[in-house]
Amino acid sequence: MPVLSNRTADFTDSVIRRMTRISNEYHAVNLSQGFPDFEPPEEITNRLSEVAKEGPHQYALTWGAKNFRDALAKKQEHFSGMKIDPEKEIVVTCGSTEAMMAAMMSVCNPGDKVVVFSPFYENYGADAILSGAEPVYVPLNPPEFGFDADVLEDAVKKKGVKALILCNPSNPCGKVFTREELSVIAKFAIRYDIFVITDEVYEHILYKPYEHVYIATLPEMRERTIICSSLSKTYSITGWRLGYVIAAPDIIDRVKKVHDFLTVGAAAPLMEAAVVGLQFDDAYYHRLQEKYTHMKELFVGGLKEIGLSFTEPQGAYYVLVDIREFGYDDDEAFCIDLAKKVGVGAVPGSSFFRESVNHLIRFHFAKQDATLKEALERLEGIYRLKK
Ligand SMILES: Cc1ncc(COP(=O)(O)O)c(C=O)c1O
Repeated sequence: MPVLSNRTADFTDSVIRRMTRISNEYHAVNLSQGFPDFEPPEEITNRLSEVAKEGPHQYALTWGAKNFRDALAKKQEHFSGMKIDPEKEIVVTCGSTEAMMAAMMSVCNPGDKVVVFSPFYENYGADAILSGAEPVYVPLNPPEFGFDADVLEDAVKKKGVKALILCNPSNPCGKVFTREELSVIAKFAIRYDIFVITDEVYEHILYKPYEHVYIATLPEMRERTIICSSLSKTYSITGWRLGYVIAAPDIIDRVKKVHDFLTVGAAAPLMEAAVVGLQFDDAYYHRLQEKYTHMKELFVGGLKEIGLSFTEPQGAYYVLVDIREFGYDDDEAFCIDLAKKVGVGAVPGSSFFRESVNHLIRFHFAKQDATLKEALERLEGIYRLKK
């Protein structure tokens, strides 16, 4: 038999999806894979019913339907103050997942390096491998998840570094980068002439007093920032696979071509239906923030009562819990026991870190009250796992 590609030989199956399978096997409340268990806004699903009858049902323009890009440009301008040309500066993709891959492929030559903060969202490793780039990791140090500017500069100035990936707000650690931190990153990006590829899928999921700053809006950053984001989390439509890249025209010109060959385009009827979401007024985003604040307070408040230690999330919908008191030296074994003996699914933190960190597990809390309460009730039995 011929041999399969070397490039993909080291891919492991996703730890998150593996933990979902284990959760299902033991009928655990699955707080491992990050998707909401509540419905998207009615306006969007009602519009989808109309679109089912009216169309469009054929290919849209490869870089996205015009009305979708127009609405997105307006929304992005409203929240970031950036003026965006919807013809030249946007590509609509199949989720932020494709946006990141298209951005990496547009930027990297085989052998280039990409700086990634660790802990990191697991796709970045695969994005780097598929685009031929080598990741250079910079630690975000638990429990506060700050970074050392000297370590960052040493990484950015390495020969062959082409880009830095910035996940803000961050999955898995819930960090929201401050303007000061972003200014440090921007300073090095400019000094060492690299791109910043952002993953801003949680841009609207923030807990007071934290605020999202788009690094693209910092001085001299617009031309070197490639914004990747999506509608998955903001409108609770992770299955619709609608994302986008926003960048300067010369970059977008290249991303358009990569995207065309990767997927041709995002789903035309779903783009059409999602336009109403992009046109929501500020009240929607306030309600979204209130809803997530409620879920966060319910869940982390419960963790506190149980007596667990964790880092308070500033944004996104995950919390990293410290399991050192349980006496395990393997966080994956802990998560399997947690699903099996306590009945709650979590993700071993080591799957997000480059460094050897195995004392953290990640729960996600984008769930209905009843699901979170059931999980908390079960977690009251977590000390059974103590060795
Ligand atoms: C940081 C981060 N980026 C991207 C994604 C995937 O986004 P999309 O559904 O837009 O592909 C996720 C999903 O969990 C995520 O947590």
